[in-house]
Amino acid sequence: MKATPETVLITGASSGIGLELAKCFAADKSQLVLVARNTEAMEKLAAELRESHQIQVYVVTADLARPESAQRVFSELTHANIVVDVLVNNAGFGLHGSFAELPLQRQLEIIQVNIAALVELTGLFLPGMIQRRRGGILNVGSVAGFVPGPNMAVYYASKAFVQSFSEALREELRGSKVKVMNLCPGPTETGFSKTARSHRVRNHQAAKMSAAAVAIHGHQAFRRGRGSAIPGLANVLIAQLPRLLPRAAIRKTVMHYNRLK
Ligand SMILES: NC(=O)c1ccc[n+]([C@@H]2O[C@H](COP(=O)([O-])OP(=O)(O)OC[C@H]3O[C@@H](n4cnc5c(N)ncnc54)[C@H](OP(=O)(O)O)[C@@H]3O)[C@@H](O)[C@H]2O)c1
Repeated sequence: MKATPETVLITGASSGIGLELAKCFAADKSQLVLVARNTEAMEKLAAELRESHQIQVYVVTADLARPESAQRVFSELTHANIVVDVLVNNAGFGLHGSFAELPLQRQLEIIQVNIAALVELTGLFLPGMIQRRRGGILNVGSVAGFVPGPNMAVYYASKAFVQSFSEALREELRGSKVKVMNLCPGPTETGFSKTARSHRVRNHQAAKMSAAAVAIHGHQAFRRGRGSAIPGLANVLIAQLPRLLPRAAIRKTVMHYNRLK
């Protein structure tokens, strides 16, 4: 009997790494569910992927900064009889600036999108995966998750959460056939810095990987069943910093990297 095609839900699929991950999973002939706010960008991608890979692509417009959104996405898919096998929690954003000066409400939205929506979607879709004994969760963390991040404090802390949560979940699910992976990109050429930057941020920018290279690396590692993936040698080195430097030196280094004008 032919296995039913896998369905992959990707949050933040309207641009950047999420859009490129959608292309990777489409090339596997997976059916896709794209979730983000920008409907037009997702419909354009959906049309391209349906045409090039003869797959079904379902678009859900949702603002994950709104607390009710994760449940709404789950209910809409349940209603449409769409079973999600792989959940890619990629949607996320950060804000550059000192904690005290950035708008508090926007910083709480970082927690809502990067942490709360990721946990809630996982909690909603995971039981079905465990029951069916197939599937997985690919969380997009960051190398920022390895270190404290002065001048981007809430963002770095949110990615530390993603790392800890993903690792713990992977251990709990050992033997369940559901795999969990944390993808930890470093600086990547996407819309991320445009969203994060304020006019006071220093002009210096680190060398960036392409979103396609990051997605291909992450997708391959996920297919191989890895627990984490760090694309790019420089980023692998950043992830080693906590082992090489005292904590105070790390804080100062990151503060300098995120310095304001
Ligand atoms: N770029 C980097 O340097 C870098 C490095 C490490 C980790 N990351 C992580 O990679 C992930 C993807 O970011 P990216 O670099 O590809 O940036 P991006 O191009 O800005 O993409 C972010 C995606 O998240 C979605 N999103 C943001 N806020 C949302 C909300 N309230 N509701 C629903 N969707 C929302 C955006 O869609 P809409 O705007 O259409 O809603 C977009 O599709 C993020 O988790 C980010 O933290 C990025």
